[in-house]
Amino acid sequence: MDFSTIFQNNERWIAEKLAAQPDYFEKLSKGQAPEFLYIGCSDSRVTAEDLMGLQPGEVFIHRNIANQVIPTDNNINAVIQYAVEHLKVKHIIVCGHYECGGVKAALNPSDMGQLNSWLQTLRDVRRLHRAELEAIADDHRQFDRLVELNVLEQCMNIIKIDHVQRSWYRGGFPKIHGWVFDVRTGKLIDLGLNMEKEFSSIRSIYDLKPLDKQ
Ligand code: CO
Repeated sequence: MDFSTIFQNNERWIAEKLAAQPDYFEKLSKGQAPEFLYIGCSDSRVTAEDLMGLQPGEVFIHRNIANQVIPTDNNINAVIQYAVEHLKVKHIIVCGHYECGGVKAALNPSDMGQLNSWLQTLRDVRRLHRAELEAIADDHRQFDRLVELNVLEQCMNIIKIDHVQRSWYRGGFPKIHGWVFDVRTGKLIDLGLNMEKEFSSIRSIYDLKPLDKQ
């Protein structure tokens, strides 16, 4: 693809938006109030707004390799804090996807240089759920399951965050959802995780409320 195609596409997109609504960009420039924070994979096939049918201004987005929520990652910490405390998003979504290269790499240990440390938390997910994963005879089904378990564990990582817990205690939001995008069919699947129940199961370890009172 030629670089110029992208700018031609952009001109066409502007024309389409303005044809439908002449003050579209004027309104867009006034600010954002998205209700959703979407955390997904950087994979070029998983186009967040497009697959959800959402428009500019409707979803705050963070993408990284294999949709990781790592507590020492300044980038995602800033994104989540801004989304929760300033945008006051109602929902945080972690969206994994089948055929994820990052998850596949975690299933096949090898020296990947800079990626080794990034993939370490994914390997930890594999270790945490080792018994369940190794009981699955079919390799591809095991790969799919690790994609799902990775989503669950990253949702767990969100509820471990202090300001997310504070917001929960204040008003019950944000709700946390685990999804998987099936790149083989285009379908978006809600894993139906009950994160309040999940939180109660790890509360004695991760509940930071007592720290607030210190
Ligand atoms: Co991926």
